[in-house]
Amino acid sequence: MNITIIGTGYVGLVSGVCYAEIGNDVICVDKDPYKIDMLNKGKVPIYEPGLKELIATNRLAGRLAFTSNLSNAVRHSDIVIIAVGTPPLPNGEANLSYIDQAAIEIAKAMNGYKIITVKSTVPVGTNERLAKLIKSHTNMAFDSISLPEFLREGSAIQDTLYPDRVIIGAEYQNAADTMVQLHKPLTQNIVVTDIRSAEMIKYASNAFLATKISFINEIANICEKVGADVTKVAEGMGYDKRIGSSFLKAGIGYGGSCFPKDTSALIQIAGNVDYEFKLLRSVVEVNQDQRFNVIRKLETIFDGELNGTTIAVWGLSFKPNTDDVRESPALEIIQHLVDNGVRVKTYDPVAMESFQSLFGKEGVIWCEDAMEAAQDADALCLLTEWHEFAKVDLHELQKVLKQPILIDGRNVFNEEQVLGTGFIYYSVGR
Ligand code: UGA
Repeated sequence: MNITIIGTGYVGLVSGVCYAEIGNDVICVDKDPYKIDMLNKGKVPIYEPGLKELIATNRLAGRLAFTSNLSNAVRHSDIVIIAVGTPPLPNGEANLSYIDQAAIEIAKAMNGYKIITVKSTVPVGTNERLAKLIKSHTNMAFDSISLPEFLREGSAIQDTLYPDRVIIGAEYQNAADTMVQLHKPLTQNIVVTDIRSAEMIKYASNAFLATKISFINEIANICEKVGADVTKVAEGMGYDKRIGSSFLKAGIGYGGSCFPKDTSALIQIAGNVDYEFKLLRSVVEVNQDQRFNVIRKLETIFDGELNGTTIAVWGLSFKPNTDDVRESPALEIIQHLVDNGVRVKTYDPVAMESFQSLFGKEGVIWCEDAMEAAQDADALCLLTEWHEFAKVDLHELQKVLKQPILIDGRNVFNEEQVLGTGFIYYSVGR
């Protein structure tokens, strides 16, 4: 099939490459000529394992192209997929201006019937509104499809090529059938439904996963007080198929560009129809507070006096295998430390630059490697569970730290590993 994807962010780029990989002819469009230029030179603007190689092989095979000429790309394709960002507005609602703009440009470029598909996460009712917007700018026939995306950063290729399910929200059977054909090579689990339900499935899924995380984080907080071990509690719960073992890792809370944005948006969506989503409000509140457990632990250790201490921070991205630091708990934790007179030394294997662009370069000591960050620090806080941190030699680490204090915000180490090394070790819910 001939497919055009508008937007070369995480979702657009990864989906485009994966549709090409299963044999389709794909053009990825972005209005940022610099990004397109990079991609055409074989450079990838985001860090995602496996992406660069897949782009290269599919370009070579002639199945994948990049352009900033939206009109030509739309004319070339039968299916146009919108995958532009829907960043949160200050009130938590999704900003739909990029989507609207894309829809108008597609409408103006149309040269015949198209299936216009929205992959971006949009509030319930948006696809219907977009259809009206497109109609007001073209006489050409088209069908609207809602195709919510469930890929995770860091395992985006795997998630797209082997998805748990594909959701197709459609008004008419023919367009739905074409989309089913397109996705058949990827999975048997294809749910075809109406457009509003498809839009809702995306928000409900992310809200549910966020709820699991906040739930286990609160259980962890209680475990600390009653002397239980949350990793064992989660394991014991997870064997129950009705509960499932995933997303029960306690830590410093979720971040990223999706859960924080989508939970706020769903609270808004509910509020707009006079429904207060009390449970989800609590999920967000718990998540916001969870990161401060790291600070509270430090304050307990240093008798409330952090001023003048040197604290090492390992990990800046919101999770491993990505350079994405959006809504990363590390942002607020480091800001709090800096505001309280702490000398912060930090290191992340890939997210230093992206962190600096959000946080600024001042006030923090940026280190070349993990040991350099730990050197002469009064305590070390581990905020992202990068594999290289788990492999570190604890005896070596103890030698470089001024005081052997380790706050493990992601339960990377187990207590047996740390016991006997002389570390004063704090983890989450154990
Ligand atoms: C999430 C969803 O998992 C995807 O299905 C969805 O497509 C995506 O949002 C989106 O809406 O675009 P992502 O944000 O990439 O994907 O990352 P996750 O792997 O889901 O992790 C989110 C956050 O939850 C991270 O900060 C992670 O550290 C945290 N987390 C995850 C936990 O604290 N504990 C867990 O057990 C799992």
